[in-house]
Amino acid sequence: MAFDLKAATRKPPSPVRVLVKRYDPVNGKVWWQAYTVETYKGMTVLDALLSIKSDVDHTLTFRYSCRMGVCGSCGVVVNGTPRLACQTQIAEAASPASPELRVEPLYNFKVMRDLTTDFTEFFEKHRFIRPYTIRSDLAEREKPTLEYSQSPGELSEYYQYSLCIMCGLCDAACPVYASDVSFLGPQALAQAYRYLADTRDEAWILRLKELDSDGSPFKCHFAASCSAVCPKSVDPAGAVQRLRSSLLKYKLRIYRKRKISQIVPPMKEIKPMIPLPPEATLVDGVDIKKLEEEPPQIPVEKLLS
Ligand code: FES
Repeated sequence: MAFDLKAATRKPPSPVRVLVKRYDPVNGKVWWQAYTVETYKGMTVLDALLSIKSDVDHTLTFRYSCRMGVCGSCGVVVNGTPRLACQTQIAEAASPASPELRVEPLYNFKVMRDLTTDFTEFFEKHRFIRPYTIRSDLAEREKPTLEYSQSPGELSEYYQYSLCIMCGLCDAACPVYASDVSFLGPQALAQAYRYLADTRDEAWILRLKELDSDGSPFKCHFAASCSAVCPKSVDPAGAVQRLRSSLLKYKLRIYRKRKISQIVPPMKEIKPMIPLPPEATLVDGVDIKKLEEEPPQIPVEKLLS
């Protein structure tokens, strides 16, 4: 989800009513609890939850760590949309006309207590897709002496998917994940594509074979809500479509053998480039190096006075 600069510079309404969906695992009780929070400019949903916990109700439970949108542990549903609590400003989510926030645990996850959800299944699905590069040159992998070559174009094939912080917002927004527990979900499938598209990986056929299972990307309905809520602007929906295309070609046996990165000497061992001849600094007869040495048109002393 794109950062809303306008909202970030707006003053939020104060006070706001924060309605939190709570769950007590001891007696199985689920209820909505209302809190009133005094806000300030720049206050986030996580700040509001922390202020409730420290000043009003110590029993309120939620998860967080970095407070800067990196660890991915503070995912909650704010006013019906899965979001990172530490990246969602109160000013974005509440307005003077409607000074109320509804905060719920992530959809499609088992709730442990209040806003804390169980990520066991999520991590199992992530583990299933083998989230690491697989190589046959084991000796090199164990004790690297060289580097794997990869062009900028090859890197751009998977780079955006490597930005995933595993917050689970995409799975919480997915309508298929909500109704089919065997579906791997947008997070795991996007990561499956991330390794499939990485030319340093040699196990692409194995990956396709394993994906041709119950959790198959063909179960995706392409609602694209996963991409809409991603806090890192990753496009899991796009990855799932690319995965489907690769899997279909594999099933029809119409795929081409993929290029695999070769090992090359580390960059420092590559001979330095031959320096350019002096005339290379001439552009239409003007020496651009000499231009840098020209004195400024307005003396510095005059600028400072
Ligand atoms: S606390 Fe780390 S992403 Fe929000």
